[in-house]
Amino acid sequence: MNDTYILGIETSCDETSVSIVKNGVSEIATVVLSQMDTHAKFGGVVPEIASRMHIESITQVLEECLNKASMTMDDIDAIAVTYAPGLIGCLLVGVTFASTLSYIYNKPLVPVHHIIGHIYANNLKNRLEFPLISLVVSGGHTELVYMDKDYSFKKIGGTLDDAVGEAYDKVARVIGVSYPGGPKVDYLAHIGKDTYELPIPLDDDTYNFSFSGIKSAVINLVHNEEQRGNEIRKEDLASSFQNRVIEILVKKTMKAVKEYNVNNIIIAGGVSANLGLRERLTKECDNNNINLLIPDIKYCTDNAAMIASAGYYAYKLGIITDIDLKARPNFSMY
Ligand code: KG4
Ligand code: ZN
Repeated sequence: MNDTYILGIETSCDETSVSIVKNGVSEIATVVLSQMDTHAKFGGVVPEIASRMHIESITQVLEECLNKASMTMDDIDAIAVTYAPGLIGCLLVGVTFASTLSYIYNKPLVPVHHIIGHIYANNLKNRLEFPLISLVVSGGHTELVYMDKDYSFKKIGGTLDDAVGEAYDKVARVIGVSYPGGPKVDYLAHIGKDTYELPIPLDDDTYNFSFSGIKSAVINLVHNEEQRGNEIRKEDLASSFQNRVIEILVKKTMKAVKEYNVNNIIIAGGVSANLGLRERLTKECDNNNINLLIPDIKYCTDNAAMIASAGYYAYKLGIITDIDLKARPNFSMY
């Protein structure tokens, strides 16, 4: 069988990325241009600046990726692009660029949902084994997903309010940690002690999550301590917050594994880079003889390799669109 090379394009937020992946599993070359330093000055992603920066760099990022792979567009079988969800202006840049390439080079255009991309980031490490439970933890999503085969997604639970990454970013801001908050709170949590009393978020029998309560508890605690003239021990608060969050994520994931009778867990999304979560889930899976697949850190946050990997399975299933593909900022994958 001939090899299939997918060119992936990702511009949904603040990373401009192009990648070439062979047969959905082997990364040939990836270029990720992060805009983080620019947005850090504003304390978060500024949508207009993000889309402008994508426009300025996307052609260069493609050229660099092709050079790195020693390939040309003639070697590419199909173009996969993130069309949903994300910032509308940012998605539009990737979608328009991919549609144009598809038209000029006469290559099939494959639409990929960003969260499906995050799930397939795992496939770049080891081929997914089914059935599995995926814990999706990103800046905009927190969900438990059941998959019994490629490209089949059943949501079994999700957040009722904030996504876990969003809660991390808000907690970071209130304890005075600069953007991007998540990784810094993770770092502080590792050097701190779990000494603050915080509620376990939505500790019930469902597969749903809720992080707004613990976020408000952190905000109230900080304000109360400030009013009393007490100093906050940032690392201890980070540790207490992180432990509560991880406890509930791991507890509900392990419950899903038992109830759905599966032996495989994967984690997906930016928060899968969290060291505490990786450690705790690894330990839990070892104790219960469950196979755990975790993406390499470089594939946890936004990148086009995961889009190209997901794009391969979509392409094989005939999920191909014409060049008037629309960007869908809030589209669900289910
Ligand atoms: O998946 P992602 O890159 O963007 C979305 O698709 O939403 O996830 C970004 C989120 C941010 O909220 C960021 O703070 C969080 O992932 N994040 C982390 C860590 N690394 C990134 N949260 C906790 N610990 C980390 N190490
Ligand atoms: Zn993402």
